[in-house]
Amino acid sequence: MRKMHKFLGAAAALGLMTTAACGGGSDGPPAADGGDAEAEAPADDAETAEAPSADSTDTIDGTVYADFTGDATAGEAVFAQCRTCHVMDPGVNRTGPSLHNIVGREAGQVEGFNYTDANANSGIVWTPEKLFQYLENPARIIPNTRMAFAGLPEAQDRADLIAYLETYSE
Ligand code: HEC
Repeated sequence: MRKMHKFLGAAAALGLMTTAACGGGSDGPPAADGGDAEAEAPADDAETAEAPSADSTDTIDGTVYADFTGDATAGEAVFAQCRTCHVMDPGVNRTGPSLHNIVGREAGQVEGFNYTDANANSGIVWTPEKLFQYLENPARIIPNTRMAFAGLPEAQDRADLIAYLETYSE
């Protein structure tokens, strides 16, 4: 009988583990207004993984856009990393939206492109300074973006790329 108990115990433990493993699913509908939702109080002091505010331009590496001079020709080479998903031609959307006229425009405005809410509702204006911050690590600036791109760690690459994008913006 002792053996039997052990077995049951193991089975119960397994069952628990399985349940725990399934706990992370995101298939439930979002809780409707209030109810029993365990609303996490916004932490106003703690360091959270939240995105910087839309008008923040703080970079991870501490670089500042104004300290760099972008070279559009060099930026065209950097753009090779974007070209699998973006083109500069107006109105041509691929995996990502056309980047024609992107500099200075509000996020989520390219016609005919199906943005995530995260991007569309980010409240961002794509100033050179914001692009400089975003392109360092896009998912930090727009958590849940569909843009699967790790980022450009070199500040000069970002400045060059922005100079290139600017040649397609007015
Ligand atoms: C693997 C595909 C992919 C790559 C590579 C990629 N992007 Fe994106 N990009 C996307 C997608 C998809 C979106 C839309 C994101 C969303 O709706 O969440 C996007 C959105 C953007 C936006 C916001 C556009 C808007 O109208 O708000 C900018 C700016 C941008 N990308 C620039 C770049 C640049 C510059 C590069 C190269 C350094 C790059 N992307 C590389 C797929 C990509």
